[in-house]
Amino acid sequence: MRIDVLTLFPQMFESPLSCSILKRAQDNGLLETALTDIRDFSTDSYNKVDDKPYGGGPGMVMMPGPVFDCFEHVQKLSPEEGRPILLTPQGQQFDQAKALELAAEKRLILIAGKYEGFDERIRTGLGAEQISIGDYVLSGGELAAMVIIDAVVRLLAGALGDEDSAKDDSFSEGLLEYPHYTRPEVFRGMKVPEILLSGDHAKIAEWRRHKSLERTKKWRPDLLRNGDST
Ligand code: ADE
Repeated sequence: MRIDVLTLFPQMFESPLSCSILKRAQDNGLLETALTDIRDFSTDSYNKVDDKPYGGGPGMVMMPGPVFDCFEHVQKLSPEEGRPILLTPQGQQFDQAKALELAAEKRLILIAGKYEGFDERIRTGLGAEQISIGDYVLSGGELAAMVIIDAVVRLLAGALGDEDSAKDDSFSEGLLEYPHYTRPEVFRGMKVPEILLSGDHAKIAEWRRHKSLERTKKWRPDLLRNGDST
């Protein structure tokens, strides 16, 4: 998969992309990333990329010109057409189902804006889908883009060391994950549940399913109401 990011702050991505699973996915050739600075496409002598909103009001709005020029340049960097995604709190809320859907794509183009928002013609003109990572406002789309990259890339076949790890993740079946334990068997008087030491795989699977349901009911009942897991 190739992921392009259009941003005013490419340097924000350097550390997340050079650690852990994202680094390994790139080293293994599963993931190719390219960061492009929208400011390089400013036509203004001050390198302006934002301006005051028509109709008045506070804040600055990303101008369409630099974003369109940047997008058109980036789209041509690779023969595979990229799916354009605008990061904005007005978008559809990102979740595991969306991560799975995006992980099936060959190429994504994530557009991260700073300031108060994008000129509306960016969304309509580029035909970009809008995605939000939650009902709060970040100072820009960069962190949201990183969240999406991380959640998507770990779903690519071969990205995780253990092929089964993503399958059992919380949300992958609409439920929270069951509790995990590792050594030691007793820690400060707290014991690992006996069943996990029994070696009875069918019983263990049943216990885990029960625990998943129990903690979903208790901590995230909204997931049960939305889904068909019950
Ligand atoms: N940009 C600012 N806030 C955001 C959010 N919650 N999700 C995605 N992009 C954003």
